[in-house]
Amino acid sequence: MIRVENLVKNYGDVKAVRGIDFEVNDGEILGFLGENGAGKSTTLKIITSFLSPTSGNVYVNDLNIQDHSLEIRKQIGYLPELNPLYMDMRVFDLLEFSARVRNIEGKAFKQSMARVIEQCGLNGVVHKRVSDLSKGYKQRLGIATAIIHDPKILILDEPVTGLDPNQIVEIRELIKSLGQEKMVIISSHILHEIEATVDRIIIIHAGEIVANGTSEELMSGFHGKTQLTLEVKNASSDSIQKLADTFPEIILTKMEPVNGNHLVMMEYDKNSDPRESIFNFATDKGWILLEMSLQKAQLEDIFRKLTIDGGADA
Ligand SMILES: Nc1ncnc2c1ncn2[C@@H]1O[C@H](COP(=O)(O)OP(=O)(O)OP(=O)(O)O)[C@@H](O)[C@H]1O
Ligand SMILES: [Mg+2]
Repeated sequence: MIRVENLVKNYGDVKAVRGIDFEVNDGEILGFLGENGAGKSTTLKIITSFLSPTSGNVYVNDLNIQDHSLEIRKQIGYLPELNPLYMDMRVFDLLEFSARVRNIEGKAFKQSMARVIEQCGLNGVVHKRVSDLSKGYKQRLGIATAIIHDPKILILDEPVTGLDPNQIVEIRELIKSLGQEKMVIISSHILHEIEATVDRIIIIHAGEIVANGTSEELMSGFHGKTQLTLEVKNASSDSIQKLADTFPEIILTKMEPVNGNHLVMMEYDKNSDPRESIFNFATDKGWILLEMSLQKAQLEDIFRKLTIDGGADA
């Protein structure tokens, strides 16, 4: 378990992290989401004990990062942002190097190499030069070096940024499978890159946590509106206005003529659903409903709303 308590990090005058608290449970895959400059990498570097905090505490399995830095590094696998790899080395040699750095020798060495090559799907590329790998495979290799010591906690800083959609799916699958036996924290500034992978999302904005929950929890706490678009034939403007008067939950946002019909846009609270009433009203008035389409409030809307001013760098 990881426990972050009132964590603050200043770089000179820059307040990168402003007193954040959160916990991550064993077995969880947590998405750490925020715009550029929000404080994601800073927080992750502190948790992995590569950077010390200005104030506050982080406990990894009840060990304080300040007093137990070495022990904590053994328990954590960390893939930094931009995945720094030695490009001139061959895949096998780089993995071997990572194992030696961790003092993995003898039988354990062979087992670790075989395990990460298998888990990360590197079988076909072990003799290739790192520089010749595709971005997706470089990322797999980065993850392989991060888990060479079989840590219980895996922290990945923007692991899918810059990958093409197919590669994103592949890395997502890899992360999900690793997440079956490890706690995983993955950061991203793009919600849809991680939404499908994670159990819970923390949104950080300008160094502060602005949301923390499952996507359902975040959605239910959000007072969003559902938007509905109609295209109707044989409807007068007056009768459309009457519709809004009849059902007070409906707010008309647009009404304009198109192709001799009316395009009508409206919104209502996400907890109500007046579609059936609208259909019955339309039938009563002799309208012909050519289109009725729904745009539900999305998690994306929440993210945008919570991070509206563009982050700490803005
Ligand atoms: N070494 C540093 N010295 C000074 N300021 C820094 C340093 N590292 C980060 N910052 C600043 O701290 C803030 C948080 O940066 P951080 O890298 O943690 O953000 P991030 O959420 O990881 O952003 P990105 O999505 O761009 O990676 C930013 O304003 C950044 O410019
Ligand atoms: Mg970052």
